[in-house]
Amino acid sequence: MTAQLNPRGDVAVLVPAAGAGVRLGPGGPKALRLLAGEPLLVHAVRRIAAAPSVRLIVVAAPAADVEAVRELLAPVAPVTVVPGGAERQASVAAALAAVAPGPEIVLVHDAARALIPPELVESVAEAVRSGHHAVIPVLPVVDTVKEVDAGERVLGTVDRSALRAVQTPQGFRRSVLAAAHETAGDPLTDDAGLVEKQGVPVVCVPGSELALKITRPFDLALAEHLLAAGA
Ligand code: CTP
Ligand code: MG
Repeated sequence: MTAQLNPRGDVAVLVPAAGAGVRLGPGGPKALRLLAGEPLLVHAVRRIAAAPSVRLIVVAAPAADVEAVRELLAPVAPVTVVPGGAERQASVAAALAAVAPGPEIVLVHDAARALIPPELVESVAEAVRSGHHAVIPVLPVVDTVKEVDAGERVLGTVDRSALRAVQTPQGFRRSVLAAAHETAGDPLTDDAGLVEKQGVPVVCVPGSELALKITRPFDLALAEHLLAAGA
């Protein structure tokens, strides 16, 4: 059944989905790989659409697959699909340029984080609504972390209590994200990094283990198990 988005919602969600999925091994673009019989992107969009504040969704798809992605998502939720770019940052910029006027909160969520709980979409959006300009979901780092040199020799042990592993959705006041992308330099792997460079304070909210990024085959297998267990 096609989800209805909230016409009075104040949130637009950009979904970069144009990556190749090299680390997942041979196969098509990662967002179109199957998880429990459905593409990762379908899982992600369905969960985003279930968040009550979401008014619109823009997907940046692999350029060669834009039409196929439109057809794939038509029964899932009303979404705008645009061609992505060569780097994640370019894909986000393309999606941002396609956001219609209205929503003042913009979230960016990786299609690769297919099991995103709708509650995390809401908690990031709520933190922006409450006045923060940039919000990221994080988890504590559980492993001991070492710094090494080019020869894999240990230089030292990093104090992990001050480290956080960063997830998506990352949330922004729309004007803040737009300004960061206008002046963007070298591509970064997340959007908060761009905003940090502008000197905008970025705040953390608790992330979710279900928002894991499906990167390697192990992650896909883990996600299959999580879904089978009711995630
Ligand atoms: N992404 C994108 N456009 C790109 C590169 C990445 O929209 N040019 C998206 C991916 O589709 C993914 C998210 O950014 O949803 C995070 O990227 P990553 O996990 O690195 O995915 P891939 O780039 O597809 O994987 P890999 O790096 O293994 O090729
Ligand atoms: Mg990548």
